[in-house]
Amino acid sequence: MKMKFLELIRTAKTFTPGGRPPVEVLADVNLEISKGEFVSVIGHSGCGKSTLLTLIAGLELPTDGSVCFREREIERPGPERAVVFQNHSLLPWRTVLQNVLLAVDAVFARESRAQRKARAERWLDKVGLREHMHKYPHEISGGMKQRAGIARALSMEPEVLLLDEPFGALDALTRAQLQDEVLRLHAENNLTVFMVTHDIDEAVYCSDRIVMMNVGPRATIGQILPVPFARPRERLALMESPAFVHCRTECVRFLYAQKRPGTVASITPVTAPMEGVLAPA
Ligand SMILES: Nc1ncnc2c1ncn2[C@@H]1O[C@H](COP(=O)(O)OP(=O)(O)OP(=O)(O)O)[C@@H](O)[C@H]1O
Ligand SMILES: [Mg+2]
Repeated sequence: MKMKFLELIRTAKTFTPGGRPPVEVLADVNLEISKGEFVSVIGHSGCGKSTLLTLIAGLELPTDGSVCFREREIERPGPERAVVFQNHSLLPWRTVLQNVLLAVDAVFARESRAQRKARAERWLDKVGLREHMHKYPHEISGGMKQRAGIARALSMEPEVLLLDEPFGALDALTRAQLQDEVLRLHAENNLTVFMVTHDIDEAVYCSDRIVMMNVGPRATIGQILPVPFARPRERLALMESPAFVHCRTECVRFLYAQKRPGTVASITPVTAPMEGVLAPA
């Protein structure tokens, strides 16, 4: 039987902050992700998306059930599962190259200094930062910092790239550019990507499947939407297609349905005109 790549089995996470009542964030999350898949997670703020990502990263452990990578329980962070957060988290007193080298040095400690430097430079080149690698984080733009964060993550040659709202702080154009870069890197490196996002268009454009989370406490997966578009994807053609609009509407419908009944009623007139462009089932 084929080995399972990434799997969450009846995963639950409860936080017990000192002196306060426990917070049951996630309960009974079941999900299997294949190698090379691009999976996005959407859901209302505070439902537990980042918590789910930190469990896969190994930064937190589940309080029940398990999270497995290649059928072994994830117990700690590892270079095969690299994370990029929304706030790039580069060290301000190191240049872009030195920041990436930190990751490379940790993972490829056995290689010579020259080899490690070449690795870091190669990844910075791949994300378009060749010209800027000797600058400090404060000397480059937000988009460049995010690129540097991606280069640092990929320089460890991970199998899984975990992205937590990686482009949330960027303008629409830079965001679109970086999405395309991540899609290219995903294809070139047979990466598996797990991305938390609030941007439904981003989720539909990038993903093979969209995991939609219920609201918490005890949040779990409410629905999984397959996104059947071929790759490479052509942004404009895709976004105009009825199939794209259908996927996006499914996401919006799910998110609104998670809110209180009064809220659902108030948005019905807004979503109704979109019905006409749904792809046939
Ligand atoms: N270390 C922690 N200790 C206690 N509670 C926590 C901890 N981390 C997260 N939580 C709680 O878990 C819940 C889910 O948080 P999480 O950050 O996973 O949500 P999210 O879906 O990523 O939200 P957002 O979309 O706003 O980023 C929140 O109620 C949060 O307060
Ligand atoms: Mg979050």
